[in-house]
Parts: sequence; C-alpha cells; structure tokens
Amino acid sequence: MKRRAFLRTLSAAGGFLAGGPLPAADKVKRNMIVRSTRPEDLEMPLDGFATWITPIERFFVRSHMYTPKVDLSRWQLRVEGEVATPLTLTMEDLRKLPQAELAGVLECAGNGRSFYRPTVAGLQWEHGSVGNGRWKGVRLADVLKRAGIRASGKHVLLDGADVPMGTMPDFVRTIPAQKALHADTLLAFDMNGEPLPVAHGFPLRAIVPGWAGDSWTKWITHVRVLDKEHDGFFMKTAYRYPVTSVAPGSSVDQALMTPVESLRPKSVIGGPLEGSRVGADGKPVRIWGVAWSGEAPVAKVEVSTDSGRTWLTATLGQDRDKYAWRSWEHFWTPPRPAHYVLMARATDARGETQPFAQDWNPSGYLWNVVPQVRVEGGPGPEMMSTMPTQAAPEFPPKVKQACIGCHESDAIAGQRLTRAQWEREADKMIRWGATVKPEDRPELIDFLARHFGVR
Ligand code: HEC
Repeated sequence: MKRRAFLRTLSAAGGFLAGGPLPAADKVKRNMIVRSTRPEDLEMPLDGFATWITPIERFFVRSHMYTPKVDLSRWQLRVEGEVATPLTLTMEDLRKLPQAELAGVLECAGNGRSFYRPTVAGLQWEHGSVGNGRWKGVRLADVLKRAGIRASGKHVLLDGADVPMGTMPDFVRTIPAQKALHADTLLAFDMNGEPLPVAHGFPLRAIVPGWAGDSWTKWITHVRVLDKEHDGFFMKTAYRYPVTSVAPGSSVDQALMTPVESLRPKSVIGGPLEGSRVGADGKPVRIWGVAWSGEAPVAKVEVSTDSGRTWLTATLGQDRDKYAWRSWEHFWTPPRPAHYVLMARATDARGETQPFAQDWNPSGYLWNVVPQVRVEGGPGPEMMSTMPTQAAPEFPPKVKQACIGCHESDAIAGQRLTRAQWEREADKMIRWGATVKPEDRPELIDFLARHFGVR
C-alpha cells in the first residue's frame, strides 16, 4: 500500500496505531454552516460574533486535507535547515521555554470569497471563516534562537502532519524570518485555556497574529529555516493576489502576484439581520458587530444608517488586545417608516479603512468591503429577502464515481462557476487524481455548468 493510502486507513480507523496518549475528543461543533463535510470546512453564522472570545464549539474550521490524529507520545518537533544546531524537541522540552499568551483573530484568507463578482472557485465563505481565540504557547523566535538561526535564514517553513489527497501537493508554507522572529509569533499548544483541539491543530499550531490563516499551520512537526521562500504550490500558486488591479475574471501571471500576508481592516454587522423589520416599537435599535485589522489595532468604527451619506462613530467594547477583534455598537431610532441600508466601516491605527468596492482577485482573498444590511424601519410586514434554497441535484453515476471520494458533493454544490471555470476546475481535479475518461469529460462539464453555473 502506498504511504498515503496507508495513513488514510489508519486515520479512518481512529488512530489505533497510537498505543499512547491520543488527544481527547474535540468538543462537538454546534450551529455551524457546513461548507464541506470531508475534509471539514465549517463556517460560524453571524450570531457567533456576539462573543468576544469565540468558543471552540463555534470556531470555524478550514481543512485542505483530512485531519491527522497525532499521538503525543511519539510526536516530535524537528527544527532544521539554516541553523547551527538542528533540534528534536518533545512537547515537554517545548513547554520548558518561556510561555506567551495573546488573544487574536484567526481569519481564513478566503473569508468573504462568495461576495466577489465574477464568482471564483473555492469554498463559498460569507462572513464567518473567522474567530477570535486566546492562544498560548512559546515564541517561535525562542525555538529558532535555541537552534541558532543563521544569518542566511530568510524564510521559515512550517509543515504539519496532514497528508495530501490523491496527487495534490502537500500543504507547506513559509513565513519571512522577520515575521517568524517577531515576539508575538507563537507555536501554540493551548486554545481558549484548553489543549488545542484536533480540528485546530493538536498538538501544535502556528499563531501568526495579524496575518491571514494560511500562515497559521496546524499539526506542526517540522520547522525548517530556508534561505528563500518555499517554492511549493501553496506558496507560489495558491494564496497569492495581484499587486495591481486586474480585469475581473482574468487569469493572472504568478509573477504579478504577491503572497497573502497581513489582514485588512474589516467590520461585520452581526445585527440586525438582512431583511428584518426594526424599530416597530419606537425603541432604539441596536446595530452591532465586531471589527478587526491586521498588525495595527482598530482605531474606530463608524456606522451609517442612510446608505453611506453620513457616518456616526460607534461605541467600542471594553475587551481588547492588540490582534483581537473589537466589538462595537450603535443605537439608532429609525426617523420614519422606510427602507434603510445600514453600513459599518472600520479604520485602523495606521489610518487604513474599508473600501466600498474591492479589486477583484482570481482566488477571492482578503475581502473587506464595507458591509451592508437592508432593513425595514417602523411598523409593517417583514421583507422577503431570502431566496428559497434549492436542493442539490442528484449526481449522475459517472460524475459520482469521478468526483465523490476525496470529498463529498457539498464542495462542488457550493460553487457558482462559468463553463470555462468548471473546465479549469475539472482539469485541476484530474491533475490531483480524479479519474475522468476523455469521452466522459463533456458530459461532466455539462452537468457542472448546468447545475452549478453563475446565476
Ligand atoms: C483525488 C482526490 C479528488 C477527486 C477524485 C476530486 N477532487 Fe475535488 N478536490 C480535491 C482536493 C484536494 C480539493 C481541495 C481541498 C482544499 O484545498 O480545501 C478539492 C476541492 C474541490 C472543489 C472546491 C474548490 C477548490 O478548488 O478548492 C471543487 C469545486 C471540486 N473539488 C470539484 C471536483 C470535481 C468536479 C471532481 C470530479 C471531476 C472532483 N473534485 C474530484 C480532491 C479531489
């Protein structure tokens, strides 16, 4: 059996190989939007923004691959590459280093992808592939200094225990040495005061505060210091966006793109909800949400109740930490029965603010457009804003055979792509190991474009 297939069988059997301390079962997630069942991709609905620290049960999950179950008694951290003394550390060794803790936002680089027009392939996240966690661990800088990082070490590669599906490339990323050596960049073993859950990277994950989640590698087993950026798929193809604006829908040369790093100022309106009726009783309406930014903290949040004509400063919550989100609220009495467009806009300490329109990028990263919520103010009936959800169609046997296995049909049914995009998507899957006979390809593309096309 090939190593990958063997490992997959083991993890499917629940890690019987272990014979030692396996992690405790994760807390069951509750009230999440399932974007993909397997690998697991879960989004937090808007009500989750009501708490400052996101409970583990509500914390979003993004997995490129299946979740590995790591046996802690066999786990080791290898530190190698451009260092004077390569190290092999156990968790006990690691815990002896000075510990550090911070609260910080973890946001998927693709959060908000579903709002891009034209639509792009990838999980169709709305607002909630983001959470605010409390992370405890050791400084990556302390580990690197202990190994004696050389002056030639410019990038730090983090690799986890997850194993790719099919012929897909491994999830490996590097972060520049400057960020890796920053005192706030951690290797964390605790989340919200508990051992890191399996879904969140047990036993060790990277905390790269202010940066998007693609740098926050889970299940870390290797730290390798390199003299240049790693040149694998997840550095050079995925997680890049154009340096200057490009024509929406075009494909962009990799050389003209830069890696996703810092997050941008962003706010989310947690309530009222789109299409709701507010202020029918004449009492003030609470408009609320959270706001965060990259490496500079949020300085202010403004709210508009008149489609962006005028803005008022919202009140920020007391809970704060440099990289954490800030809750905000603003009370408003609708002056007359009417249709209102509510907006929120965050500005960070560097003066950077949210745009009203965003440059399109081919993978739909770093969405931070000013959010809008439409409500009816005053007495009357509820608006009918939500479209009835359509049931996913039955997959024909040939499509099932080719496309369901590595993942379920949900990863496909969530997409809205043009025919050309479906062709590119199918070719990617074929490169990664999907078996599609050339004579079956047109029928496959027809099915995908017909049912999961751009609406
Ligand atoms: C050999 C395994 C495998 C097979 C078979 C497979 N896929 Fe995938 N698919 C993947 C992987 C790996 C991903 C990416 C998972 C991730 O990064 O989250 C993926 C993700 C996707 C996505 C989400 C968008 C994206 O690009 O991440 C779509 C859509 C998709 N596959 C469509 C298909 C279709 C259509 C077929 C049948 C032709 C298929 N897949 C067959 C492995 C496979």
